[in-house]
Amino acid sequence: MDHFIYRDGALYAEDVPVAEIAAAVGTPFYVYSTATLLRHFRLFDEALAGLDHLVCYAMKAASNQAILKTLAQAGAGMDVVSQGEYLRAKAAGVSGDKIVFSGVGKTAEEIRTALTGGIRQFNVESEPEMAAINAVALDLGVVAPITIRVNPDVDAKTHAKIATGKSENKFGIPISRARDVYALAASMKGLDVIGIDVHIGSQLTELEPFRLAYQKVAELTETLRADGHDIRRLDLGGGLGIPYESSNTAPPLPIDYGAMVKESLGHLNVEIEIEPGRLIAGNSGIMVSKVIYVKQGEDRQFLILDGAMNDLIRPAMYEAHHDIIPVIEAEPGMQQTAYDIVGPVCESGDTFAKGRHMAPLKADELVAFRSAGAYGAVMSSEYNSRPLIPEVLVNGDQFAVIRKRPTFDEMINRDTIPEWL
Ligand code: LLP
Repeated sequence: MDHFIYRDGALYAEDVPVAEIAAAVGTPFYVYSTATLLRHFRLFDEALAGLDHLVCYAMKAASNQAILKTLAQAGAGMDVVSQGEYLRAKAAGVSGDKIVFSGVGKTAEEIRTALTGGIRQFNVESEPEMAAINAVALDLGVVAPITIRVNPDVDAKTHAKIATGKSENKFGIPISRARDVYALAASMKGLDVIGIDVHIGSQLTELEPFRLAYQKVAELTETLRADGHDIRRLDLGGGLGIPYESSNTAPPLPIDYGAMVKESLGHLNVEIEIEPGRLIAGNSGIMVSKVIYVKQGEDRQFLILDGAMNDLIRPAMYEAHHDIIPVIEAEPGMQQTAYDIVGPVCESGDTFAKGRHMAPLKADELVAFRSAGAYGAVMSSEYNSRPLIPEVLVNGDQFAVIRKRPTFDEMINRDTIPEWL
């Protein structure tokens, strides 16, 4: 459920007409709903009620300061994967003891920043990285809390580019080698080995792969405890999918996921941490774009929008589906037209949808891409020298620009000219 609905034929973001935002900020733009963000965070928090737990929002999904602050004020921790994300989380007021540092290639500088500023734990992905964290911790005279990310070799049954839990993926250490790697970690004086981490992929639409992975983690917890490790925290990653197509069956809900977690791991008496990104941000945001032209091709009609692959890359990169709806609702019973919906960028890959059936649209009319809150704005670029599009946050009947559109001068003047030119 989200808060982008039609009222009297006009699309609203909470209590604000989307067309009103478009008039104020111009198109294209992203708009997020505070109520939806909070609702999704709370669904996870409530699903894990009864367990000692922390929901660490995977801020890679949408990392605007205003979004982070909204979630942090509701009690969320953060999962970060770079120094930039770490500093963003801190700037949004998240304390170090609620920040988890994930990612396969943390540099010594990133480790130092986190150890100096405070960190809940590092999720370690390899032995060399473990050695690097140990070295920086010893140098600073501190002890770094760590979990080790294990790769359980399960098939997440999702798009190949976002599956991470098979042995051929670059993530984690093979679960078969876990005992040796934990023994090595325990021998390092700069490390405090507190738990196990696992994350098998993103946009999972079934619970079974999670269950398989978590059962393996449960077994490993018992084995490692028997080996003398004080395993007291399990980080279960993110990955629960969202319904992108209103016509498809919906993925399991956070409450079902929570029940499965309790069933698989509840007996272990450990603290549970999860890192959802997409489920919190995905349906909390839409991208709004304007029709520039309707173009008649040889055998099809193209809807040419002012938004493009540089603004929302998911369809080009993962063949992802986003529902695209008119901002002014079509009259009921209107004959539908099949459109290829494209942007103005000079590549055929700049196609959002092929043969999409919609009520007829004209130039200057607005459309909204649903489920664009996660991995939308954060993956955008200025390809074709198209300035980054603004982000807007709605809260009830108020809205605010939370990242403004740069002017053309600002974009151009970010470059510097060497003195010989
Ligand atoms: N934890 C770790 C270690 C991750 O790598 C990820 C996502 C998450 C948590 C959050 O997963 P989520 O709950 O959002 O599924 N750009 C792609 C998705 C990439 C996901 C990367 N890792 C897309 O647009 O579909």
